[in-house]
Amino acid sequence: MRRPLVAGNWKMHGSRAENTRLIEELLRGDEGVGPEVVVCPPFVYLWEVSRQIRDSSIVLGAQDVCAEAQGAYTGEVSAAMLRDVGCRYVIVGHSERRHLYQEDDQAVARKFVAVQREGLVPILCVGETLAERERGATEDVVGRQLEAVLALAGVAAFSQAVVAYEPVWAIGTGKNASAEQAQAVHAFVRSRIAAKDAILAASLRVLYGGSVKAANAAEIFAQADVDGGLIGGASLKGEEFRRICQAVAG
Ligand code: PGA
Repeated sequence: MRRPLVAGNWKMHGSRAENTRLIEELLRGDEGVGPEVVVCPPFVYLWEVSRQIRDSSIVLGAQDVCAEAQGAYTGEVSAAMLRDVGCRYVIVGHSERRHLYQEDDQAVARKFVAVQREGLVPILCVGETLAERERGATEDVVGRQLEAVLALAGVAAFSQAVVAYEPVWAIGTGKNASAEQAQAVHAFVRSRIAAKDAILAASLRVLYGGSVKAANAAEIFAQADVDGGLIGGASLKGEEFRRICQAVAG
């Protein structure tokens, strides 16, 4: 009943030529079956990629957004602009935003609300650092990150949202969480939402992200509370990304 979703977070990679090649590779395997497939290019490429995937089942997402609706915010991009160029999803609270750009839980919650105000779907990233995991604080951290959004947006907002569990120590490190580690945190995320609305929690999609590749995707995606993935490095290789998408279906 939860349609799996696989999103490619291209981060700050690509060029018009490289993106075109990558999209062509993805379109070759596009049968419109299996998981919902999302690509999240850098802002400047959104419109062109939007045109390139127009007649396909691939959906567009953005990597970040400004919490403000419009105005004197030099360098920022609003949710309305993202909708205007064809986005359906927006990643908020990616750990690189939280850690490299000091976005705190409240800032992330405001972005979540801004995205939904435009009818778009936030992909809310949560996850602990290695130090936090080692001192047994994983659930405290993930719970706190969820709570900030629940406090501002309310539980009902999660009916139009996706959560991505991305342990910081697994992102771009080649060291993925084990299937058991992922499942444990995914179950925790779902239970936190279920405590407020059990029916909604049962339909909430919770993605895993952090060093997913074709070789480990099937095992992670097979877990009961894992509904797909948020893929960084491996989403830049067409064939590899397609195999990851197939690992969900299979
Ligand atoms: P990775 O990144 O797949 O390269 O580890 C995941 C992410 O940051 O979303």
